[in-house]
Amino acid sequence: MGATLRPRELVKTTWERVVPISETSAGLFYGRLFEVEPEFRALFPAREGAMQEQGRKLMQTISIAGNGLGRLDRITPAVQVLGRRHVAYGVRDGDYDTGGATLLWTLEQGLGDAFTPEASEAWAETYGLIADVMKDAAEAAPQRDGYDPAGTAPETKG
Ligand code: HEM
Repeated sequence: MGATLRPRELVKTTWERVVPISETSAGLFYGRLFEVEPEFRALFPAREGAMQEQGRKLMQTISIAGNGLGRLDRITPAVQVLGRRHVAYGVRDGDYDTGGATLLWTLEQGLGDAFTPEASEAWAETYGLIADVMKDAAEAAPQRDGYDPAGTAPETKG
């Protein structure tokens, strides 16, 4: 009927199709990520089952984002904290582009024809919004754990 779904609905409906295959999708995601950027492997723990766990967390966060798109302000504080933690994980700004491209690739594998150009655009937008919040937060604040890339933490000696 040609009704146009808005980005938020597109992300939600496509997401619902990925959830049942999220384990497989997470596997695909990290397989691809490490193929494109083998150096990323070193950032993640090597213990058994860690990548499945990681995949679930990533999928959950994106899922929340998909549901929250349009009212991103509600999850912004949590996403900022997540962005700061990623500095400590060794993730740099440019890495988010690779992560986003890999996510879109994964969704395309899982959804096939259902991953329309409109759905792709909606997901790119969702990921981009989250990644921007994470990157801005990474830049803005010194780390609570003492890692301070900007060197702006107050002096503690004396
Ligand atoms: C919008 C983008 C992303 C989201 C939503 C996301 C989400 C998450 C979440 C929920 C965790 C679990 C730990 C925590 O909550 O701190 C995590 C950990 C991690 N992420 Fe991300 N992430 C994103 C992008 C990236 C990118 C681009 C990389 C680069 C390779 C990356 C690398 C890592 C690493 C290394 C860990 C820690 C693994 C560990 O030590 O257990 N993430 N991420």
